[in-house]
Amino acid sequence: MTVTEEIRRWMNTEWLGKELIYKESTDSTNTRVKELAAEGALHGTVVAAGAQTDGKGRRGRSWVSPPGVNVYLSVLFRPEFPPARAPMLTMVAAYAMAQAIQEAAELPVQIKWPNDLVIYGKKICGILTEMSVTEGRIQYVVTGIGMNTNMTEFPQEIEDMATSLRLISGREIDRARLMGTMLNYLEKAYDRYEQEQNLEWLQDTYNALLVNYGKEVRVLDPGGEYSGAAEGIDGEGRLLVRKKDGGLIRISSGEVSVRGVYGYAE
Ligand code: BTN
Repeated sequence: MTVTEEIRRWMNTEWLGKELIYKESTDSTNTRVKELAAEGALHGTVVAAGAQTDGKGRRGRSWVSPPGVNVYLSVLFRPEFPPARAPMLTMVAAYAMAQAIQEAAELPVQIKWPNDLVIYGKKICGILTEMSVTEGRIQYVVTGIGMNTNMTEFPQEIEDMATSLRLISGREIDRARLMGTMLNYLEKAYDRYEQEQNLEWLQDTYNALLVNYGKEVRVLDPGGEYSGAAEGIDGEGRLLVRKKDGGLIRISSGEVSVRGVYGYAE
């Protein structure tokens, strides 16, 4: 059986991954999907890879992508909604990935706002969304997901911050099955978001998973750093932070970074 056939065995999607491409190795699945998008590929096209030679993280960082151990996949969306709604899509993807992790390994996964997934304070999954807009309309959105699955060794720079499903659960995870599960939850969550165009429907679940909920966070605002207590997200995906003076600030993702007071997550 090919890898795509194996992934399909676990999929029950209606449109997501109808076009599904698997490569043993590629530079970056986001780059591949962007190329396909420029050639007119369909909404829901997925590229997955066994390894990436130029895996991309957020804020220009790279994403460690060794062969044969993790999940690297990217999805092409062609939404009808306006560009301002796209950042919320990344949070929708994070919510879907939390569900996929819970199904795959029943682990106590949490979300670090807006879209990192952590377990016991260490990062397990990252999401990179890239968008192309022409004349105020979205041409495409590419959502790339990296899930640290069976990886057991990390480069020194990230070993304190990163972990994998295998390291935490103590067992090898079937990557094809995990990919199928991820795509199933992603389609469901996308459909719901497309219908609602806000996050009120996932707000309570998302807040229950939020690693910083009720805790002190440092907000790395370019206009000046401050701290406050995180009070969850609102229906637009903004993080509510209660400052010491009692004032409530609503932070939009993309504008600032949020850190725990003690480190990356908490
Ligand atoms: C982050 O910095 O947290 C985002 C990491 C996103 C990594 C994934 S792996 C699949 C896709 N292809 C890439 O080059 N990046 C994303």
